[in-house]
Amino acid sequence: DKTKIKNALQLEVEDKEDVTVMGWVKTKRGSKNIAFLELNDGSTVENLQVVILNPAEFEELEDINPDTSVRINGYLEAVEGREQSVEMKAEELSIIGDCPADYPLQKKEHSNEFLREIAHLRPRTTTFGVINRFRSKMSYAVHQFFQERDFSYVHTPIITANDTEGAGELFTVTNFDLADVPVTEAGQADFEQDFFAEETGLTVSGQLEAEVLACGLGDVYTFGPTFRAENSNTRRHAAEFWMIEPEMAFCNLEDNMQIIEEFLQYLFQYALEECKEELEFFNQHVAEEDKIAKLEELVEVEFARITYTEAIDILEAADKDFEFEVEWGIDLQTEHERYLAEDHFAKPVMVTDYPLDIKAFYMRLNEDGKTVRAVDCLVPGVGEIVGGSQREERYDVLVDLIDEFGLEQEQYQWFLDLRKYGTVPHSGFGLGFERILMYMSGVSNIRDIISFPRTPGNAEF
Ligand code: 4AD
Ligand code: MG
Repeated sequence: DKTKIKNALQLEVEDKEDVTVMGWVKTKRGSKNIAFLELNDGSTVENLQVVILNPAEFEELEDINPDTSVRINGYLEAVEGREQSVEMKAEELSIIGDCPADYPLQKKEHSNEFLREIAHLRPRTTTFGVINRFRSKMSYAVHQFFQERDFSYVHTPIITANDTEGAGELFTVTNFDLADVPVTEAGQADFEQDFFAEETGLTVSGQLEAEVLACGLGDVYTFGPTFRAENSNTRRHAAEFWMIEPEMAFCNLEDNMQIIEEFLQYLFQYALEECKEELEFFNQHVAEEDKIAKLEELVEVEFARITYTEAIDILEAADKDFEFEVEWGIDLQTEHERYLAEDHFAKPVMVTDYPLDIKAFYMRLNEDGKTVRAVDCLVPGVGEIVGGSQREERYDVLVDLIDEFGLEQEQYQWFLDLRKYGTVPHSGFGLGFERILMYMSGVSNIRDIISFPRTPGNAEF
């Protein structure tokens, strides 16, 4: 039975503790009389030091290079005066897989750009080990938050005919043989003849289906992959990203905002308690100076809350030349979002009541007839991490909105039915999982927070 290195390093060893470990050798050094291997198996940031007291008897030692995989039998012993309280003495050593000299990950600092080109090998690096363990733990925290509050985890479809956000970013799904796509008289692909007999795509959001489930189950959440054919090559956009979308019945925008704040602070608190090793690593090696979110402060601080109109006032009064001119009605650009969160408030800020024209059709219309009950949460360094709203629950108003957005009522009849039969005020939001991880870790490019980034021109290793 093998012992994970994480557990081996935490053992309180009195005398000698027999163990078998398996992992990749990170470094090898020594002399004729003694040799040292630093071994890692992906369970922790730290390496286990393995001491070989009689190197001459270990023939295989000579063939060990960085990232050769090995199995070692021996025993753990307590050591004093070092960071780690145990080290291992090897008794038997066998090579599992050689690692020849053309291995691209030699022992030196590699740039993130270079590592993206060898995405199949980067999980072997310390940084990507930490990032992936952090991602895993924070996924668990997401589920824990909602499960503790009796939300049901629901699964919404990946293949859908709904372009929920109406931004035209749906990736088309088809089983047409590319060489032989039937076309309509107008010369377009004839989806009537395709598998689903209509045009379908990969979901841009599970929200509409989550509304269906919330209107029966009360409180639900999704946590899954989301796709957008958004041709923007930025450090915070990916074509495939993970989103958490809670949807709550009998819930207005104020309740929604309270849950957003509570949820984010829960994630910060969880990280402080359960991800100490990862946060320490991010602080020392990843985040630029002073750029890392100060989680201890963030769990205490109240998020700022302003309306879109107030945000525009702040931006217009700002002593700053924005590339994109500020006036009421514009969609806030990253530079504006960052000014608000970073320069003006220096903490997360929730902006509400955006103009109808720049948001999606399903948001609840305000009395003024030109703004909607939307909320975005903006944070320093990243900009928007959450988008949400109270939904329009009034049948007639929603019919008008569908019409105003140029959508077909027929296609949304099922969505209108939720308003026809026992309608309730309901609200929800979407948190971009990569975005919140970037914010918490200081990792500045989305391509480095997801293992297999999908961005324009890049869907391979
Ligand atoms: O603001 P968005 O488009 O909102 C929705 O999709 C709503 N249907 C959510 C809801 O109310 N249930 O997206 C929500 C969040 C954004 O705030 C951002 O964090 C993330 O999803 N996001 C992206 N993350 C990475 N790459 C992209 N291309 C993203 N697009 C959105
Ligand atoms: Mg948004």
